[in-house]
Amino acid sequence: MSSIPLICSIDVGTTSTRVILFTESGEEITKHQIEYSTSAKEGSKRNSPTIFSNEGIALEIGKDGHVQVEEDHMGPTLSFPQPGWVECDPCHILANVLECLAACLMRLEISNSEEPLDGSLPTVYHVAAIGIANMRETTIIWSKRTGKPLHNGIVWNDTRTLNLMNQLNSVVPEDIRTMLQERSGCPISTYFSSLKWTWLYDNVPEIQESYDSGECDLMFGTIDTWLIYNITKEKSFLTDITNASRTSFMNLETKDYDEALLEFWRVDTTKINLPKIVPSCYDFGTFQLPDLKHIGYQRKVLSQDAEEIIMRLLADVPITGCLGDQSASLVGQLAFQKGDAKCTYGTGAFLLYNTGDKKLVSKHGAVTTVGYWFPDLDPSVDGKDSVNPHYCLEGSIAVAGACVQWLRDNLKLIYSSSHIGPLAAQAPTSAGVVFVPAFSGLFAPYWNPRTTGTIFGLTQYSKASHIARAAIEGVCFQVRAILRAMVSDAGRSSEFLDHAELQDKNNPLNTLHVDGGMSQSDVVMQIQADLLGPCVSVVRSDNAECTALGSAIAAGLHKKVRVWKSLKDVSEKLNGGSDESNMFVAQLDDEKRHHMWKRWEKAISRAKDWLD
Ligand code: G3P
Repeated sequence: MSSIPLICSIDVGTTSTRVILFTESGEEITKHQIEYSTSAKEGSKRNSPTIFSNEGIALEIGKDGHVQVEEDHMGPTLSFPQPGWVECDPCHILANVLECLAACLMRLEISNSEEPLDGSLPTVYHVAAIGIANMRETTIIWSKRTGKPLHNGIVWNDTRTLNLMNQLNSVVPEDIRTMLQERSGCPISTYFSSLKWTWLYDNVPEIQESYDSGECDLMFGTIDTWLIYNITKEKSFLTDITNASRTSFMNLETKDYDEALLEFWRVDTTKINLPKIVPSCYDFGTFQLPDLKHIGYQRKVLSQDAEEIIMRLLADVPITGCLGDQSASLVGQLAFQKGDAKCTYGTGAFLLYNTGDKKLVSKHGAVTTVGYWFPDLDPSVDGKDSVNPHYCLEGSIAVAGACVQWLRDNLKLIYSSSHIGPLAAQAPTSAGVVFVPAFSGLFAPYWNPRTTGTIFGLTQYSKASHIARAAIEGVCFQVRAILRAMVSDAGRSSEFLDHAELQDKNNPLNTLHVDGGMSQSDVVMQIQADLLGPCVSVVRSDNAECTALGSAIAAGLHKKVRVWKSLKDVSEKLNGGSDESNMFVAQLDDEKRHHMWKRWEKAISRAKDWLD
């Protein structure tokens, strides 16, 4: 009996981990997701043996596909030890991945053995390859000898290095700062891995001692590297180019570490091991169940049954795709053409603008990053440039969905995140309220870490609905600001958003492809379209899981797998055509938008530099 190949995507995000099994047409055969708990207490509360539990450790998987969750001693995946600090437990991340894999594969095994009622042959699937998508910049240091992490991972939105960043930005001469940004694409910021490494060296004695001893036992990695190292038979020590482009250590032209960058960030590769930088579509190694006990994780993660299922269904399965999650969603949106733009609204919001195989260095606050690199493509089908790395300008907004969560958890304005749209819809305008949701400072294009979250324009008339609407507008205004900045970098007039005649006729930017949590709300997307104006429509992906899909595409394009033969083939098989209900065009009149934009700019200038 023939078996249908599936691609297994592992997506480790900032607030959840998920595993999805995709067919070649992008259909999800099964999926399991774990939302992280943020405190040990919350983690230990869960007691329902449901497969859709929050974070939990799978002890038993019943024949009905349910996962039995351990009730006690659950620690958190994410922790916030001090204001502005965000850490993750690297072993928990692995445990979450295993639980998600076990749940999906158990279901797959059950469905493979089910006889169809009509007497026809059962549809049998197998996993042909694994793809990984992950939150970027998050930095983990572990010991090569023991395999144990030497500190929690420092998460991308952690701002503990703020003072250090300010200090560097004030003492480092401008020509050096320009060199750093031109070569790596990254400015000096708390965001990238470089300052996280500096902090770990300066503050964790074990790391400092090991580094200074010259034994070269330290292993540096972002989440992709940590995962791949632990789940491959070969213990592959690799990072894909899109993740590497977020460390500040990689030269975007040479696609390798750069001596000047390493020297600036005090990284001596005779004292610490850096993973080899490889394409996003690459043979990363063969899957193997990690030995978590060996790296100090004491809890039992999987039952014997669950372990056996994973080993049976993933034996010899190669990991052939890996992308940082924002690059993955660019790929999942099929935004392969130069000039394509996408925005993913997750914890933060991330706008990527594909500049083709040429890197652009932003003069307006965007970051240069790698979108993807698929050297396995056939240039005679996808074009001669298709095998080169594709670069993007990226604008990151630190707080998007996180602001909705804040309204839910801290202000109790809504019961569930999905209520934000309906609440905002109760008010036709924000009634003068402007919300700058800068809980972790302002990222692109403003880059002002001393901004805090600020609400302007409150009166006794202000209601919850006005604040909800202003919060959404606060995210959407930042998307507009980023788009303006990127367009300027691409040599066009930033005024094109308001003046259709300024569009580049040959290469118009007329669509913003969107995905992620907040994009699921029509109200939010209509506000986004209104604030962008009539020149750019907002088009929501039919597939809600663009990030996971992107990493599946990378894996499925590999010559060992060939679920898709080319980007053309990907587009043909996955593009179901746009559904009208997923398209949003501006309905707000120009004068009102102009007035709101001016008010937003005023709010930004007042909120900036609040912190001493
Ligand atoms: O740069 C951070 C980004 O990769 C995190 O994405 O989706 O986990 O919020 P997300």
